[in-house]
Amino acid sequence: MTTRVIGKPLPRVDGRAKVTGSARYAADFNQPGQVYAVIVSATAGLGRIAGVDSAMVESMPGVIAVITHRNAPRLPYGEHKSYIDPAVGERLHVLQDDRVRFYGQPVAIVVADTLDRAERAASSLKLAYEAERPIVDPADPTVEAIVPEGARHADTSRGDADAMLAGAPVMVDETYDIARENHNPMEPHATIAAWSGDRLTLWSKSQFVVNEQAEIAAIFGIPPENVQVICPFIGGAFGTSLRTWPHVTLAAMAARQTGRAVKLVLTRKQMFFTTGHRPRTLQRIAIGANADGRLTSLIHEGAGETSRYEQFTEALTSASGYIYSCPNVRTRYRLRQLDIGTPNHMRGPGEASGIFALECALDELSYSLGLDPIELRRRNEPEIDESDNKPFSSRSLMTCYDVAAGHFGWSRRTPEPRSMRDGRLLIGMGVASATYPAYHAPSSASVRLLPDGTAEVAVAASDMGPGTYTSMTQVAAETLGLPVEQVRFSLGRSDYPPAPSHGGSWTMASVGSAIRAACIAVQEKAVRQAVADQRLTVFGGAVDAIEWTGGRLRRRGDPSPGQSYGDIVSSLGKPIEAEASSQRDPDVAERYSMHSFGAVFVEVAVDPDVGTIRVRRAVGAYGIGRVVNPRLAASQCTGGMIGGIGMALMERTVLDPRDGRPVNAHMADYLVPVNLDIPKLEAHFVEEVDPHVNPLGVKGLGEIALVGMAPAVANAVFHATGKRVRTLPIRIEDVL
Ligand code: MOS
Repeated sequence: MTTRVIGKPLPRVDGRAKVTGSARYAADFNQPGQVYAVIVSATAGLGRIAGVDSAMVESMPGVIAVITHRNAPRLPYGEHKSYIDPAVGERLHVLQDDRVRFYGQPVAIVVADTLDRAERAASSLKLAYEAERPIVDPADPTVEAIVPEGARHADTSRGDADAMLAGAPVMVDETYDIARENHNPMEPHATIAAWSGDRLTLWSKSQFVVNEQAEIAAIFGIPPENVQVICPFIGGAFGTSLRTWPHVTLAAMAARQTGRAVKLVLTRKQMFFTTGHRPRTLQRIAIGANADGRLTSLIHEGAGETSRYEQFTEALTSASGYIYSCPNVRTRYRLRQLDIGTPNHMRGPGEASGIFALECALDELSYSLGLDPIELRRRNEPEIDESDNKPFSSRSLMTCYDVAAGHFGWSRRTPEPRSMRDGRLLIGMGVASATYPAYHAPSSASVRLLPDGTAEVAVAASDMGPGTYTSMTQVAAETLGLPVEQVRFSLGRSDYPPAPSHGGSWTMASVGSAIRAACIAVQEKAVRQAVADQRLTVFGGAVDAIEWTGGRLRRRGDPSPGQSYGDIVSSLGKPIEAEASSQRDPDVAERYSMHSFGAVFVEVAVDPDVGTIRVRRAVGAYGIGRVVNPRLAASQCTGGMIGGIGMALMERTVLDPRDGRPVNAHMADYLVPVNLDIPKLEAHFVEEVDPHVNPLGVKGLGEIALVGMAPAVANAVFHATGKRVRTLPIRIEDVL
């Protein structure tokens, strides 16, 4: 009788709203009397603002306010840090002093009655700078590598990796350089701010609405309950909207200063300045192995870039500790501080970069050994997580290889580089492993059962595109025993029960488990109320002698159809509501190592004369616990693969060393894959039952989908051309 909806490939419940334009994104919430703000971005890369000439701009038609550090209100910038903010350092205080810390830092905000007038005024504002030359290249020899303060895993070691490397029969020892990337979702950052007395409403693009509420409250020194953040839809984000960046503060500041609702949308160019980026990384991987392919030593050293004012860290080297079996492992993680804005998590943060280096080095080792790259990984499959001596809650890496190899046709590959051709094109096939932690953060959820038999579920979560609306509706429908049409799921408001950030691949685990708990709580409450209601058939029954099946309540064993939520709520005369929270059992977290694993196969075609590299097809297989919606999960995976193609072959933010200006801060020169770059992509899921991770058995999928792609492409490029490229993106000139 139970409605089985978890595991069904349902289309998106919000699909119609999205394609018909009724889904409203932050900038769609136009307010009465709204005016328009435009940020003026610094055109110096370091130094101070020496002069502001705003008189001419203030007299331009339609201009309402010109706010710079000279006339901006001093904001309290109260203490507030969530886990999304770097643990060390202090966020940028916008328009609070004359210092310029990086190119593109907001130095003024202009407000006018129309967007055109605000843009024209902003572009006319004259600022003079005392500029110095910034340092923006982490490879600059004057830049010191610092130990991130308070980072738990900056240095790890087991055995003696350096000694074993020196004596290893077979070894590789190479360095890797991955370019800075910017997230570049379709929807730009946008905020509409409106004050009503001392209460502020923000319609704002955010992956973490409850944190945006707390952050803006702290910056303005007002109680969090005076701030409401609303964000029902997000047009892609990839991590760029995890933090609350300066433009949100500026929109709220401008709204308060002018007494009007203010709309502020960043330009594509401005999204390269103050909204985070994947840090450029410099890495070394050294691997020693016996002639049979067993690893004897693994050294992974890496450094990421950060700003001068905050230490952004990511898990660059962590996976090297657990992904394979190796008795001697040493990892080191460092930061290089530059005159840039603080980086931020970008899809697959840490692992995407670290695994690139490791998986390229393993491929290289497989050639030194004359061993199939999959067989090399098989020979180093660990029994347990050797970095902390815990069993894996589940691990299907080799099954993923088997499944993906079958779909891909790996057996057709001839191992010799340059040995496969299609006409004049060189064909290459490459593989790589992927992994990402299966996190679970505390979350809450509320459920209301209504007289018409429907249920309303609400959580302050976000949906940046993976299908959160749909998958959460499925969890609620299944737990309540209702058809999905009778469940309405809402998210994206800071006054809903709090959720963690929509990131880290933990939304399904965290929010899903909370929804499940809230649905169970509301059923228990309904039973307690129903047995006390003499108009209902279960009246007088013992609570534990009553059961829910298929959304209906009856005495256990009673053959009658029982009564529905609608019958019960109608009889009681008011909705039944419950709120519940969920978090991971700390004992289980202590006992198991929890990660998703996957295997990615790529075929490329390289033109030997002009060096163009095309990905022809990719096949990934993933062990991610239970798959709530295979259609959405496959879409999530192919999206991640596309991001991986971008990382491997296209994406690179280039900074001018003279002033730190991103020279390709627009979609014409910052290349991302387009339809013609995307061939056949396939995602498969291996059957995996993980009873430990959370009550739903889900491990998360958003990040791992990108993780193994770039090394699989690079390894395929080597197979096609015989050229080993250790810098990303791989360019035409690298293979000629
Ligand atoms: Mo994801 S980088 O945590 O949005």
